[in-house]
Amino acid sequence: MSPTSDFSLPEQGTQPVMTSEYHFRCPQPSDGSEVFRLVQRCKPLDENSMYCNLLQCSHFSDTSIAAEVDGELVGFISGYRLPQQANTLFVWQVAVDSSQRGKGLASQMLEQLVRRVGNVTYLHTTITADNKASWNTFKRFALNLGAPLTNKSFFDKHQHFSGEHDSEELVVIGPFTLF
Ligand SMILES: CC(C)(COP(=O)(O)OP(=O)(O)OC[C@H]1O[C@@H](n2cnc3c(N)ncnc32)[C@H](O)[C@@H]1OP(=O)(O)O)[C@@H](O)C(=O)NCCC(=O)NCCS
Repeated sequence: MSPTSDFSLPEQGTQPVMTSEYHFRCPQPSDGSEVFRLVQRCKPLDENSMYCNLLQCSHFSDTSIAAEVDGELVGFISGYRLPQQANTLFVWQVAVDSSQRGKGLASQMLEQLVRRVGNVTYLHTTITADNKASWNTFKRFALNLGAPLTNKSFFDKHQHFSGEHDSEELVVIGPFTLF
């Protein structure tokens, strides 16, 4: 079964068809240390400090999402509204535990998150050129919304990362409308 079958957009005026084995919710400060460990397990994500994860789970809880199975944290997206562009959700990191990959969890979290945040017509993220799983996740998201996806260089390996990190492309998805 295609992992995106849970993602089908309903006809206008009907409720979303959303069957899922996952429980989605806003992260809480008590999730911070588990988020830290999940991100540690999800290579090639950059590890942040546990303090940073705690801030994501508190100040940025409304624009982030946690997914659980049987009370275990198996998925997390950190995000925020761009400070100068409130109609744009910036997705910072997407992490899915290896036990749950390929089942549409990242796609479901993205959809749930943009629906909950509301009043966003663009999604931005950054991806390194070689992260195929990430590119495909965001391409799928754009495809499901019928939204354009464009990319351009953003943080350069040498100019911004002192050669210590691969370049990050800025991915812009939108405009989109959620029904
Ligand atoms: C990237 C990641 C979040 C995807 O999570 P997931 O729940 O397995 O993704 P989904 O099942 O929702 O798949 C979404 C799309 O990406 C594709 N995809 C997922 N993993 C893939 C992989 N390893 N290689 C190629 N394509 C992949 C799926 O086929 C699907 O596209 P499709 O519907 O057109 O077939 C997960 O692999 C992960 O946590 N990786 C480590 C952390 C990371 O790199 N995060 C980057 C931010 S996205």
